[in-house]
Amino acid sequence: MLHGKHILLGITGGIAAYKSAEIASRLRKLGAKISVVMTESATKFITPLTMRSISSGPVYTDMFAEPKTWNVEHIALAEAADLVLVAPASANTLAKMAFGLADNFLSTVLLAVQVPIFVAPAMNNAMYHHPATQENLKTLSERGIHIIGPDSGFQACGTEGVGRMSEPHVIVEEIENYFRSSAKSSVDLKGEKVLVTAGGTREMLDPVRYLGNLSSGKMGYAIARAFAEAGAEVTLVTAPTSLTPPPGVKTVQVVSAQEMQQEVLKLFDEQDIVIKAAAVADYRPAAFQEQKIKKTGQGLILELVQNPDILKSLGEKKTHQFIVGFAAETQNIIENGLAKMRKKKTDMLVVNDVTAEGAGFGSDTNIVSILFPDGQRMDLPQMSKLEVAKRLVQIITATRKKQQVRSD
Ligand code: CTP
Repeated sequence: MLHGKHILLGITGGIAAYKSAEIASRLRKLGAKISVVMTESATKFITPLTMRSISSGPVYTDMFAEPKTWNVEHIALAEAADLVLVAPASANTLAKMAFGLADNFLSTVLLAVQVPIFVAPAMNNAMYHHPATQENLKTLSERGIHIIGPDSGFQACGTEGVGRMSEPHVIVEEIENYFRSSAKSSVDLKGEKVLVTAGGTREMLDPVRYLGNLSSGKMGYAIARAFAEAGAEVTLVTAPTSLTPPPGVKTVQVVSAQEMQQEVLKLFDEQDIVIKAAAVADYRPAAFQEQKIKKTGQGLILELVQNPDILKSLGEKKTHQFIVGFAAETQNIIENGLAKMRKKKTDMLVVNDVTAEGAGFGSDTNIVSILFPDGQRMDLPQMSKLEVAKRLVQIITATRKKQQVRSD
């Protein structure tokens, strides 16, 4: 699977460094050629000799060692690789990457690299949750760096929590998936601007309570990722979720339907494709209570007012944009979907029965039907949300092309 691929494996200091040997071994068994770059602290956890023996490739530790080739070594290494994996990636190295520091061989190579970079963070739970680390991970993700994990569980420091490096087989699978999907992806959307909305909006009642829905954001995030992988310039306007934004995607965080509408309208004119996967609340409390609502011993009636229909307003405003709506239904799926598509003037509508097993909120898979304004319909079988997203990229691109030919 990885024959002919040259992977540069960066190892930083952390107890998880012992697992890098298994990563190198798995990559090698899949046919990859491996070069290893270790930071000085990594060499305290696992020896260069171990890594050299397992990877069968060169191991670099020192910026100023006798060169192994007559090129400028950090540049030559960066150019030769098809992919760079840093596992484990310490909080320190992630911070250096975010700030562009080049104070050792690994950080210097990382600054020169122009191929995809994957990092598998590993650190103590508190270090992982520190705002500086979170900010750095966000920066790296927006810059297109793929972040694998971390997992949660028992940590070497004796605590439980998030920060354990993902298991070697998971890391290697991510890399295999990357090469597999980039070999398959025939769609090139360079230069196209795509706006995706995701997550479920929250309508605040008082400083601590809100009306919300069960949307996990997984479908929208998968769509943003699939379009970014196809080369598009993607902006994701997202209501709160627990997900990490996909690499290379510009993310705008919102909370309520009104905020989402504001951000979407600001961005709309310059977009080529807009996909509204967000679950937008139709109603919000008529008034926001500045202080926490106290119980009175009696029932409480909330007055709600209707929110703007963002998708409908885009359908009315559209010029050249290709607009895709979503519909979450629980009955009469197709009829309700068709009616929604006409009402909101979208170019396509993706419907799913959110009560079906293997579909809808929180699930990692989905079962969708795609409806078109001319009455045509395409039913996709159950597949992962990322697979659905990739199919949508292909279907949207093909439908847009047909539309453009027709209007020429
Ligand atoms: N949508 C929107 N603004 C709203 C409500 C929905 O932009 N205020 C969008 C959603 O992002 C989705 C589509 O409209 O793309 C359909 O959402 P859905 O909740 O299924 O439909 P509603 O229009 O809200 O209709 P209903 O809840 O009555 O079925």
